[in-house]
Parts: sequence; structure tokens; C-alpha cells
Amino acid sequence: MKTGGANSLEHHFMPFSANKHFKSEPRLVSEAKGVYFKNNRGEQVIDAVSGLFCTPAGHGRQEIADAVHKQLLTLDYVPPFQFGHDLSFELARRVGELMPGDLDYVFFANSGSEAVDSAMKMALQYHRCNGQPQRTRFVSRERAYHGVNFGGLSLAGMVRNRESFANTLSGVSHIRHTWQEETRFARGEPDKGAELADDLQRHVELYGADTIAACFVEPIAGSTGILVPPKGYLKRLREICDRHGILLVFDEVICGFGRTGKAFGANAFGVTPDLLTMAKAITNGNIPMGAVGVSEKVYKTIVANGPAKGIEFFHGYTYSAHPVACAAGLATLDIFKNEKLFEKADALAPYFLDKVYGLRDIPIVSDIRGYGLLAGIDLQAADKPGVRGYEVLQDLFNAGMLSRVTVDTLILAPAFVCSEQQIDEIIDKTRRVLSRHAQRAGIKLAS
Ligand SMILES: Cc1ncc(COP(=O)(O)O)c(C=O)c1O
Repeated sequence: MKTGGANSLEHHFMPFSANKHFKSEPRLVSEAKGVYFKNNRGEQVIDAVSGLFCTPAGHGRQEIADAVHKQLLTLDYVPPFQFGHDLSFELARRVGELMPGDLDYVFFANSGSEAVDSAMKMALQYHRCNGQPQRTRFVSRERAYHGVNFGGLSLAGMVRNRESFANTLSGVSHIRHTWQEETRFARGEPDKGAELADDLQRHVELYGADTIAACFVEPIAGSTGILVPPKGYLKRLREICDRHGILLVFDEVICGFGRTGKAFGANAFGVTPDLLTMAKAITNGNIPMGAVGVSEKVYKTIVANGPAKGIEFFHGYTYSAHPVACAAGLATLDIFKNEKLFEKADALAPYFLDKVYGLRDIPIVSDIRGYGLLAGIDLQAADKPGVRGYEVLQDLFNAGMLSRVTVDTLILAPAFVCSEQQIDEIIDKTRRVLSRHAQRAGIKLAS
């Protein structure tokens, strides 16, 4: 394949990528518009995962490009410590309107990982302000993904992401994940399993409630393969947190901004956390930005405890509330509102899920989970875990579809602007490639 403008693929050390193999067989794209990329041969590649859950409004949006261009020439940078600009306040207000309950405040970062680490620090400081500095433990979940900085990595429960890096934070424990053999192929929230939340109570009893600062969960665990919470599970977590003064944090880096058919997973599942992390779709993935939604309770406690003219929260990033990212964020929220994209996602979800669950008959498909415009399709592992998944990713790209694979789970998360025909295209390509793999596996087994 042509490498376009690149003379060599050697020097970029790619993240979460098979560097050696990629450089021998690259998957390069050079353009994107709507729900299609173009590969370096100029062929169309349908985007089945909104980039990386980033671009629900589709690629190449003129409104965002115009806002970014204008902002660069009007006010390209403002130091975010002790100085400000209108856009960040407006964006915070607008995001606050979308979040449920008293989540009315927003702290800006530049990625999901930074948002998670910021939320961890906020939780610690909140308890310190309340005279409970001993609340330093965090509880998260097996099979969780909370980004890659050392805070989020410590919370995360995906083994491969941790095993090379010995020094994760101490004082983090993991409740069990919510995948259950008996609810395989459940559509939406499984009927069984709310009691899995009681694992948090076990941790409370083991470590003492007054040692735990916060419990972090993704409403739908995304990167681990789309684990939809059992009915009542998140409510039960909320109740246990309330009973013991533990902050509940939803990591909505994937679920946020309409993916579930509602503004946030918190809205979809009717449970309001104390802190809510977000990133990706906040700018339609066009400019890096992450953020923490903060409840009035947490914001006011931290701010009230600070000195009259001094800094209350010793944390922030050079690019927090970057004016260009804020401009992209505001333009994105305008698109979401003007085009009613969350409602569109909600309306498209049943069609999408019908089609995805229709793949159940392919012999190598061992489970399907889905909610809103988010689905995970488990494939039986081939010789070693991850081998089939990687081959499927490659074969789908060669067939003209960009997808995401985690070990042997194929993840689909189409843009909200997809038509039913484009959903059909995604499903047809998936069926063709998976059937070929099933056939090959059958031939292998028979020989
Ligand atoms: C739930 C969750 N949290 C955090 C992150 C990390 O976000 P980033 O890659 O922007 O640091 C991700 C990324 O996919 C995520 O899914």
C-alpha cells in the first residue's frame, strides 16, 4: 500500500498497536467524511466505531472546522491557571445542562485518562475537606478500563494493560465484573445480576467504609467488550455508596454524549454519580479534550474549604480548557442539539441491535451484548487469545470497514448520523468476514 506523504513508517512508536506487524502491513487512512474513511488506495472504508467512540456526528464537520479556525485566529491560547476566557464557562454550563441531578460543574482536562486522574484527586480532597483524610482507598472493577495514566491504570482491571508496569497505586481493590455465563446474548440490561453490586459491600466490610474514597465504574464497561450493567445494578451501587459516604464516579468516556440514546449513561440508567468523567465525543473527537462533571456537593465542599484568595485545588493542565478545544466542544454541542443526535441515536438503536443480534447464528460467535449504539460480539478464541480478533480486525479493514477489537471481542459503535443502509453495510461486512473465519475454523476442526 502507498504510504501517502510518509517516507518511512519506522519512527512513529504507535500506541496500543502491533508495531512490527503494522509496519509490514499498514492500515493507513488519508481522508474522512461522514461515516467513511478513505484508505491510501482511495477506497472507501466505513467507520463502524465512530473512530474510537469519538465522532458520533460524523467526520469532517464544517461547523467544527469553522469554529476551530476562527478561534485560532481570535484567541489561540490562554493560560488556564488564574486566567480565563468566556468559552470554557459557556461550555461548562452547557455540559452541566446535559448532566443529571446536581452535576452542575465541570473541570477540564485533555483526555479521558486525565479526567479519571483528576476525579481521583477530587475525591481525595473532598474527604480531606470533610475531615476524613483517611479515606484514601479506591474501589473499581475487574475488566474496567479507566485510561492509562497511573491513577486510571491502578483502577483498571484489564490485565494486559497492567502487567508490564509494576508500580500501580496501592489501596485500590476491584469488585467483580458483570459478565455472566447465564445472561449470554441478553439484549440491553440483563435481567439477572443486580446482586453483583453487593461485592462493594464486601469490600466495605473488609477494608472499613471510612477508608474508601470512591467507587469508579463505567456505566457500560466499554473497552473490555461492552458489558451492559444488569438491571438495578447501578442503583444498588449508588445505595451502598450513600450508606457509607463513598463517592460514586461514573467513567463515561465512552457512554457520554448520546451513545446510550440519552445524554449520559447516568441519564439512561437513572442513577446520578457524584463525579462523571468524559472525553472523546465532547468535541466529536476533533480536538483533544477530557472533563470531569462535578456535583455541587463536591465542588462547594472543596471551594468553601480553600482560602479567600488562594488556590483551592492544586491540580490542572497547561491545556485545561484550551480555547480551541472549547470552541470545538461548543460547535459539537450545537450539532448534537440542532440535529437532535441523541434522539437519533435512540431511534436508530433498535434497528442496529436487531441487526447485530442477527449475527448470533455464525458458529464462532459466542456472545453478543449491546445497548444503544454500542455492541460487543465475542468470538471463540483460535489458537491463542487475541489471534482471531486481530485477524478479524485486519480482514474487516481489507473488506472496507474500520472496527475495534479487544482480544477476541469485536466492538461496533456507529456514528449517530449513520443511515439504516449504512448499518446494513456494517453488518453485511461483519457477517461476511466472520462467516469466512467460521468456515476456516470448521475446516481446521474437521481435518
Ligand atoms: C471508560 C474510559 N475511561 C478512560 C479512557 C481513556 O481515555 P483517553 O484515551 O482519552 O485517555 C477511555 C478510553 O477509551 C475509556 O473508555
